[in-house]
Amino acid sequence: MAPFVILLLLFSSLIHGHAQIEPKNEAFISLLVTQNGLDFVKGLLVKKAISSIISLRLRDIEKGANFPVVGNVYMSLSNITIYEIDVASSIVKPGEAGVSIVASGVTCNLSMNWYYSYSTWLVPVRISDRGRAEVQVEGMQVGLTLGLENQEGSLKLKLEDCGSYVKDISIKLDGGASWLYQGIVDAFEEEIGSAVENAITKKLKEGISQLDLYLGSLPKEVPVDDHASLNVTFVNNVLLSNSSIGFETNGLFIERNNSVHIPKLCHKKSEFPVSCAYSSKMLGINMDEAVFNSASGLYYDAKFMHWIVDKIPDQSLLNTAGWRFIVPQLYRKYPNHDMNLNISLSSPPVVEISKQKAGANVFADLTIDVLEEHEVIPVACISLVIRASGLVKVNGNNLIGAVKLDDFSMSLKWSTIGNLRMYLVQPVVWTLIETVFLPYANLHLSKGFPLPIIHGFTLQEAEIILSDSRITVCSDVSFSDSNKLLFKFIH
Ligand SMILES: *[C@@H]1O[C@H](CO)[C@@H](O)[C@H](O)[C@H]1NC(C)=O
Ligand SMILES: *[C@@H]1O[C@H](CO)[C@@H](O)[C@H](O)[C@H]1NC(C)=O
Ligand SMILES: *[C@@H]1O[C@H](CO)[C@@H](O)[C@H](O)[C@H]1NC(C)=O
Ligand SMILES: *[C@@H]1O[C@H](CO)[C@@H](O)[C@H](O)[C@H]1NC(C)=O
Ligand SMILES: *[C@@H]1O[C@H](CO)[C@@H](O)[C@H](O)[C@H]1NC(C)=O
Ligand SMILES: *[C@@H]1O[C@H](CO)[C@@H](O)[C@H](O)[C@H]1NC(C)=O
Repeated sequence: MAPFVILLLLFSSLIHGHAQIEPKNEAFISLLVTQNGLDFVKGLLVKKAISSIISLRLRDIEKGANFPVVGNVYMSLSNITIYEIDVASSIVKPGEAGVSIVASGVTCNLSMNWYYSYSTWLVPVRISDRGRAEVQVEGMQVGLTLGLENQEGSLKLKLEDCGSYVKDISIKLDGGASWLYQGIVDAFEEEIGSAVENAITKKLKEGISQLDLYLGSLPKEVPVDDHASLNVTFVNNVLLSNSSIGFETNGLFIERNNSVHIPKLCHKKSEFPVSCAYSSKMLGINMDEAVFNSASGLYYDAKFMHWIVDKIPDQSLLNTAGWRFIVPQLYRKYPNHDMNLNISLSSPPVVEISKQKAGANVFADLTIDVLEEHEVIPVACISLVIRASGLVKVNGNNLIGAVKLDDFSMSLKWSTIGNLRMYLVQPVVWTLIETVFLPYANLHLSKGFPLPIIHGFTLQEAEIILSDSRITVCSDVSFSDSNKLLFKFIH
């Protein structure tokens, strides 16, 4: 999750004013981890637990016991090491109290050194012996319950409950006297059992607190490019159902520099469940169209949507000669003058998502400039409304898109060269949209923006579902070691 930069709360009076109108804790990107997703994560956690327990060394145990004939014997077990652990089955179950993980049929093999010494009145010297022993702990059950909550915008993982239970222990000694075997079993069985239980519980507690530290360290912003980040601050409570866990994040685009900007939004409230709650995919990510509109507003304000076109595929259109038959008066007034086109969006594009399509309405002003000596003379301005529809895809962990022109309408805003015959101008504008405007837009859309996935996890076989005012990505995930920090915790 990615990963996910420090949040500076530099509010200006503008944001202040805005925040007061906007209801609190609105979530525009929500994530749902389904049962299959939980199973996947549990698999990683169990693997991590196993590897952290292997080679674990337990405390030495020592004891005195009385044996018939031999009398009082001092015995000790040292260098007690778990060298193998196997988990027959494990389940993960979300519930109101938290997420429970239970591993059962856990077997664990330990090796140790045994030592004993005693003295009797028969012989004047102390008698002692030492050797190796192997212990198999069988039928062990280990369970833990994890609480997940939103703590000031970050995830807090708490170990609510943790316990283990050992069913059976078998001990095999190398060497030693025959009386010793039963003596060791009687004297140490219970202690070995509880030492193993304690060691495993302690390790799990350490593991969970490390994971909690990691989750707490997740940044609240995901950088998109030099200008924008995605605000992935968690909002509202973690939603636990009996088969999934839901998280809600703010999800809007924000300026990276934290210079002030929150675009004005017009949106419908996104709500659970995420459309793929009941699919077999591991993860669902819901994005309200407000996310896209916040991006649109941000880039608009960052003056990204204003540009001067002085190179186009059909360069003849950048000289008044190329317009001779389209706008004759332009050629007559400025014969053979070079031109440029100033395309400037008059408001942020409006993104609309419905079951049928992801679309955008773009409002642009196309100003025709004539270049004379060192002067730029604007001669006419055409207002455009471009309707485009998009194809949304997932590439890696990025949501990317491509748009095509559905249709456009145009009207003359002003002119210093008299009226233009719009039916003649229209094919030229169409060409400009197709060869200049859309390729420019698609260049940016093809980079897309990162979905809030913890770094190290990669979406696999993602599906996109369009619904009323939102886009949902349902996907499986894979885990790799590219996130060194998380890898340290998980592997
Ligand atoms: C302690 O146990 C480990 C693993 O079983 C073994 O490699 C090592 O030699 C033992 N050390 C002693 C002093 O017996
Ligand atoms: C560990 O103990 C189990 C029995 O509990 C046994 O079947 C297995 O062979 C042991 N593993 C090793 C590597 O000794
Ligand atoms: C989850 O809860 C719903 C009703 O709240 C119930 O119908 C469903 O069977 C439950 N699923 C499981 C796996 O317990
Ligand atoms: C990010 O989202 C949180 C939660 O909605 C909000 O409190 C915070 O102000 C947002 N950050 C910015 C820079 O807008
Ligand atoms: C962000 O800050 C950097 C340097 O502090 C500056 O170069 C850049 O123009 C700023 N970007 C915006 C969008 O304000
Ligand atoms: C481009 O046109 C916009 C209005 O449509 C105007 O505000 C801007 O100054 C023009 N830019 C240039 C470089 O002429």
